Amino acid sequence: MEELPQDEQFLLQKAIESTNNSYAPHSHFCVGAALQLENGVVLPGCNQENAAFPAGLCAERSAIFAAGAQYPDIAVLKLAIAARDTSGELTEEPVSPCGTCRQVIIETETRFGKPVRILLYGRRRIYVMDGIKNLMPLSFTEF
Ligand code: THU
Repeated sequence: MEELPQDEQFLLQKAIESTNNSYAPHSHFCVGAALQLENGVVLPGCNQENAAFPAGLCAERSAIFAAGAQYPDIAVLKLAIAARDTSGELTEEPVSPCGTCRQVIIETETRFGKPVRILLYGRRRIYVMDGIKNLMPLSFTEF
């Protein structure tokens, strides 16, 4: 963590904090996200579940869609993700975005013409990558 620049440490802390706002009564897996916009604004997200499972939403998309609703013209530059497992502990290993979130992150990159730097928190290690494309080659981009 200490090797990262201040703004990225802050973003990871916000993602960790956001796990506390997760609504996950079904899976008990509390995911938090925090994104940084080009104008410096930081927005949180967390997973929101529902008894009708597909009605819920992942932490990453809750943050990205909130950004789209409030700052439609401002690029998303960075996205941090953290999670607590069913014991309530922050996960030892990083949690990586699901396929649907990867697809949404790719479209966010395309929309603003900039890669989204991804920070995945784990107590044992943190993964950082410049852009989501390495996590989702040959994604669906045209129709
Ligand atoms: N979840 C996220 O919020 N982000 C991910 O990248 C993976 C999964 C949520 C969805 C569901 O509420 C819970 O974690 C268990 O799958």
